[in-house]
Amino acid sequence: QNLAYSPPFYPSPWMSGNGDWAEAHEKAVQFVSQLTLPEKVNLTSGVGWMQGNCVGNTGSIPRLNFPGFCMQDSPLGVRFTDYVSAFPAGVNTAATWDKRLAYQRGNAMGNEHRNKGVDVQLGPVAGPLGRSPDGGRDWEGFSPDPVFTGAMMAATIKGIQDAGVIACAKHYILNEQEYFRQPGSVTGYENIPAESSNADDKTLHELYLWPFADAVRAGVGSIMCSYEQINNSYGCSNAYTLNKLLKSELDFQGFVTSDWWAQQSGVGTALAGLDMTMAGDTVLNGTVPEWRIDDMAVRIMAAYYKVGRDRYWIPTNFNSWTNSTFGPQHALANMSYGQVNYHVNVQANHGELIRQIGSSSIVLLKNNGALPLTGHEVFTGIFGEDAGANPGGPNACADRSCDNGTLAMGWGSGTAQFPYLITPEEAIQTKVQSLGTGTVQAITDNNALSQMAEVASRASVCLVFGNADSGEGYLTIDGNEGDRKNLTLWQGADQVIEQVSAHCNNTILVLHTAGPVIVSDWDNHPNITAILWAGLPGQESGNSLVDVLYGDVNPGGKSPFTWGKKLEDWGTPILTKPNNGAGAPQIDYSEGIFIDYRKFDRDNITPTYEFGFGLSYTTFEISDLCVEPINAPPYVPSNGMTKAAPSLGNYTSPSDYVFPDGFSRIPEYVYPWINSTDLKASSGDPRYGLPSNSYIPPGATDGSPQLILGAGGAPGGNPGLYEEMYTITATVKNTGEVAGDEVPQLYICLGAPDDPKVALRDFDRISLEPGEEKIWNTALTRRDVSNWDPVTQNWVISKYPKTVYVGNSSRKLPLKAELPLYA
Ligand code: NOJ
Repeated sequence: QNLAYSPPFYPSPWMSGNGDWAEAHEKAVQFVSQLTLPEKVNLTSGVGWMQGNCVGNTGSIPRLNFPGFCMQDSPLGVRFTDYVSAFPAGVNTAATWDKRLAYQRGNAMGNEHRNKGVDVQLGPVAGPLGRSPDGGRDWEGFSPDPVFTGAMMAATIKGIQDAGVIACAKHYILNEQEYFRQPGSVTGYENIPAESSNADDKTLHELYLWPFADAVRAGVGSIMCSYEQINNSYGCSNAYTLNKLLKSELDFQGFVTSDWWAQQSGVGTALAGLDMTMAGDTVLNGTVPEWRIDDMAVRIMAAYYKVGRDRYWIPTNFNSWTNSTFGPQHALANMSYGQVNYHVNVQANHGELIRQIGSSSIVLLKNNGALPLTGHEVFTGIFGEDAGANPGGPNACADRSCDNGTLAMGWGSGTAQFPYLITPEEAIQTKVQSLGTGTVQAITDNNALSQMAEVASRASVCLVFGNADSGEGYLTIDGNEGDRKNLTLWQGADQVIEQVSAHCNNTILVLHTAGPVIVSDWDNHPNITAILWAGLPGQESGNSLVDVLYGDVNPGGKSPFTWGKKLEDWGTPILTKPNNGAGAPQIDYSEGIFIDYRKFDRDNITPTYEFGFGLSYTTFEISDLCVEPINAPPYVPSNGMTKAAPSLGNYTSPSDYVFPDGFSRIPEYVYPWINSTDLKASSGDPRYGLPSNSYIPPGATDGSPQLILGAGGAPGGNPGLYEEMYTITATVKNTGEVAGDEVPQLYICLGAPDDPKVALRDFDRISLEPGEEKIWNTALTRRDVSNWDPVTQNWVISKYPKTVYVGNSSRKLPLKAELPLYA
C-alpha cells in the first residue's frame, strides 16, 4: 500500500536572530555560552509530569540562579489554580470579529499568567483549525477560515507577549480530531498507532499553515508540535513540517516544545527540530551534534528575553496538583512538603472585559422583532437546564468534564477554574427585577416537561436554553470521546425546545454550543421568534447575554463557522474506526482547501446560517467599493546561504556529566546527569554506538551554511508576501434607529477552477451611531492574491482574473470589483 509520505529535510535550521529577534538572540547566546552540557539539557527537558508546580516544568540552573520554565495551560486562562478569570473561549473571541478585543483578551490572560509566575502560556490554538464541525477541540481555537484564525492568532499572541509571557501556538499541525490522536488512545483500539493526517503541500500552505505563519510573524516565542502523524511521520519528529516549513520557510526563531508525551523517539526528534520535550524525557546516544543542543537552548532563552521574562519573572505562586496551601513540591514523588499555594488573586478588573467579549460575541441568528426585550414583559419564562447552575458548583467536574447546568466552557486541558459563573437564570431574574415588577419563572429540570408546558402557555416571552459540549479526548462524556458524536443538542434540549415552542408563540432560543448544531427545524419554526448563539462565554455568561437580550448591547457578532443542515454537508467526517488494519489510521484530507464555507459554496449547499452571518437591532448599508493597485515592487524570492551553525562550546568529558556524589534523587524526576561514564550503559539505547549513518538521516548532522528558501527569508516567510498590492475602501453606514456595530468583510476569488468561490481576506468591526457612516480602509497583500505553487515551492499570482467582494457575510456580498492587473 502506498501511504502518504513526509519527505526528509535536514539539517534542522539554527536560529539566526532574523526579524526583531536580534537583541533576544544576542542575549540568549551570551547566556547559553556560559552553560555546561547538563545545564543546556536542563533547559530542553521537562522534569517529569507532576514533579513541579506547573503542567510543564523544565530543569533549573541553580549556579546562575536560573529557575527553569513554568509552562501552563490554557488558551482561555490559567488552568489548575484559584483566583483567576475564566475567559470566553477562542471560538467566542472569533465571533466578535474584533482584533482589538482579541488583543485585550490575550493581554489580560497574559497578565494573569505572569502574576501567577508562569513563563509560557500554552495557547493560542490554530490546530485544530476546524476541519470538522464536530472536532472536540475546535472551540479552543478560532475558526475554520485560515485568514481569520491567523488574524486572531496574531492579536492574541501580541497581547500575551506584551504582558511579558511567552505564548505557545499549538498544535502544529493537522491536529484536527481527538479520535486516534495518540497511539492507543481510543477505547477498543489500544494497539493502534496515532492517526496520520495526510495533506498535500498546497492544502498545507493555503489552509493549515497560514495561521501559523501569522503567529510566527507576530513573534510567537514557542510552538507546540502535535500528537498525531502528518503524512505518516509523527508531529514532533517530522522534519518536513518542523525543519522545512516552520524553521526554514517561516524562519521561526523561537522554540518547538512537544505536546505532552508526544515525543515518539529521541535522536529523531532532536534532528527533526524539536527543542524541548514535555513533560520530560531524555536522549543520550552521542549522535546529536553539539550545535543542535546549543540551538535548542538558544531558541528557548531567546523567547525568554524576547518577551522580557528577565524583567517580569516572579516565582510561581501556585501548584497545579492541589488547591491546598501546603503540599508536596513534587506531587508525583510526594516529596518536599511546604507551602505550594499562595492564592494570589490575579483577576484585576478582567470581569468587565469578559462581559464585553461575551456580549460582543453573541450572534443573533434569527429575529422576527422579538428582540430586544424591554424588561417590562409581564411574565418571563426561562426553560432548560442550560439556563441554570451546575448543582455541584461551576467547577464540580475535573477539567469541566461534565455538562451539568449552563455551559460556559468546553472540557479538557483548555480550561480554567471559574472564579464564579453568572448563569442566565440569575442574570435575567436580576435584570427584570431591577426594572420593575415582572414575573420570572425558571424551570431548569429538563424532565419537567409538563410543568414547562404549563408555564410556557402563560408566559409572555419564553427563553429556552440548549447546549452542546465537546473537549479533549482523554475525557469522555456521554459517549463523546472528545469529538462530538453528533451535531444535536445535549441534556435533552431538543425536547424542551419542542415542548416550549408548542405552547408559547414567543419562544426565544439561546444556544451555548462548542460549534455548529443542527437548528434548521428551529429556524423554520413559526413560534420561535429569535435565535441567539452565545457560544462558550466564560464566567460572565448570564450578564453578557442579558446585555444583548435587553438591548443594552446591540449584537454585532458574526458566526465564525457555517451552520449546515446535516453533518454530511461538511463532507469532512471524523474518522472513528481504524481503516488501515493494525497500522496508523489514514485520514486523507482529500477535500484539500474546501472546508466549511468553501465546501458549501463549491457544492451549492444552502446552510441554515452561513459563515460571517449575524443580525443586528439596526440596519446597515455597505457601498462605494473602490480598489486601487499600489505600485508594489516585484516579488523577489529569497536566496543566499545561512551562516554555519555556531557552536557555543563547553562540551567536556563524560565524567563531568555523572550524578554528583551523594546526590539524593527524587524518584522519577528527570535529571540531566548520567549514571556512569559508560555511555552505552547510561543511555539504555540499543542503537548507542551503531554507525550513525545506519539510522541518522543524511545531512542531519551537517552544520555548514544552508540554502535559504525562496519563500523564506524572514519570520513569517518572504517579506514580499506581506507587501500591500491593492488598497480597498468601502463605506459602511448605519441606516437604522439605534447605534450598532457592523463587520464589513472582504473576500476574494482567485479565479482558477480549483479556487474557492470566495475566500475571506480581511474584516473589521466598526461602531456606528444611527445615520453615521465611516469609510473602511483595507488592503490586499501579495500573499492574499497568490496561490501556493508546489512545483516552484513558492507563492505565485496566477494568470486567472480575480474578483474582490465586500459585504457582511460570506453569502451577502453586494459589492464586487475586478482586481486590476499589474502590468
Ligand atoms: C495535552 C494537550 O493536547 C495540550 O494542549 C496541553 O497543553 C498539554 N496536554 C498540557 O496539559
